[in-house]
Amino acid sequence: MKVLVIGSGGREHALCALLGRNATGTPPRLFCAPGNAGIAEVAQCVPLSATDINGLADFAGQEQISLTIVGSEAPLAAGLADEFERCGLVVAGPSQRAAQLESSKVFAKEFMLRHRIPTARHRVASNVAEAREILRGSGFGPEDAPVVVKADGLAAGKGVVVARTRAEAETAIEQLMEGGRVGREAAQRIVIEEALEGREASLLLWTDGRDYALMPPARDHKRVGENDTGPNTGGMGAITAPGVLDEEMLALAVREIVEPTLAGARDEKLNFRGVLFVGLMLTPEGPRVLEYNVRFGDPEAQAILVRLRSD
Ligand code: AMP
Ligand code: GLY
Repeated sequence: MKVLVIGSGGREHALCALLGRNATGTPPRLFCAPGNAGIAEVAQCVPLSATDINGLADFAGQEQISLTIVGSEAPLAAGLADEFERCGLVVAGPSQRAAQLESSKVFAKEFMLRHRIPTARHRVASNVAEAREILRGSGFGPEDAPVVVKADGLAAGKGVVVARTRAEAETAIEQLMEGGRVGREAAQRIVIEEALEGREASLLLWTDGRDYALMPPARDHKRVGENDTGPNTGGMGAITAPGVLDEEMLALAVREIVEPTLAGARDEKLNFRGVLFVGLMLTPEGPRVLEYNVRFGDPEAQAILVRLRSD
């Protein structure tokens, strides 16, 4: 069997290490595009960019790759899974439409509203003036209550600001929409959200769109500085341990979030297949969705995959 992993980070290295270990049979022949120097120790690196969809589909066809696993979000948001399916190739990763759960926070919030999935209250703004008006309205509590400002599109973990004051929120909005903090396209719209309190957990699962298998829950550490200070990143490190998500919270998350999300994706014919990642805030009222990702987390994958004892 030949397996192709797409990506070039620690997450893809962890995936290749797991696939190469193979608990029950002959390990597959592994390729990784584009890979990196560490990955080259466990897989054959292929000099194709993760977003060169046609090049990757040609390669997978020529090499008769049995399974392709996509590590990062950009190729999925660009339609890699759709193109692979058109070419008759097997891919673990959702369609471009399903990838909107990650590639558009506005889409994700509207999806959650449609399917009554618990998440923070939000409003959408298309320009700075509209955003200011929303902030000055009474929808997000008193002046000194924190709010969260999020760029709609993909921003590699840098598109979210948890603002402690309205002044901070206004500055964040200006930086996102006009100041080039993230790419112009990512911040054409922004989501303004109520700030939730609690501990976070990342719940990942495999799904074929109908059935699913949960992975051990993890928690990543977002802020760049020591002692949980400074701006958010895509994740500085991760842990996985039973205490990250207790049995009661896990049962609630499955019943109120995981199952309605998969049912909603089916109803809307999103063709969700691959890995679903639910970023949770564990509030006193129960788990709330902070975000969806449509692939393994990085660095969550590095912590989770070494715990798996099966193929
Ligand atoms: P996201 O990309 O939407 O998961 O946001 C990145 C990080 O920002 C999360 O992991 C949280 O630490 C924080 N965050 C996002 N939304 C909220 C919220 N509504 N309340 C509090 N913190 C949030
Ligand atoms: N660590 C969070 C993410 O992969 O987006």
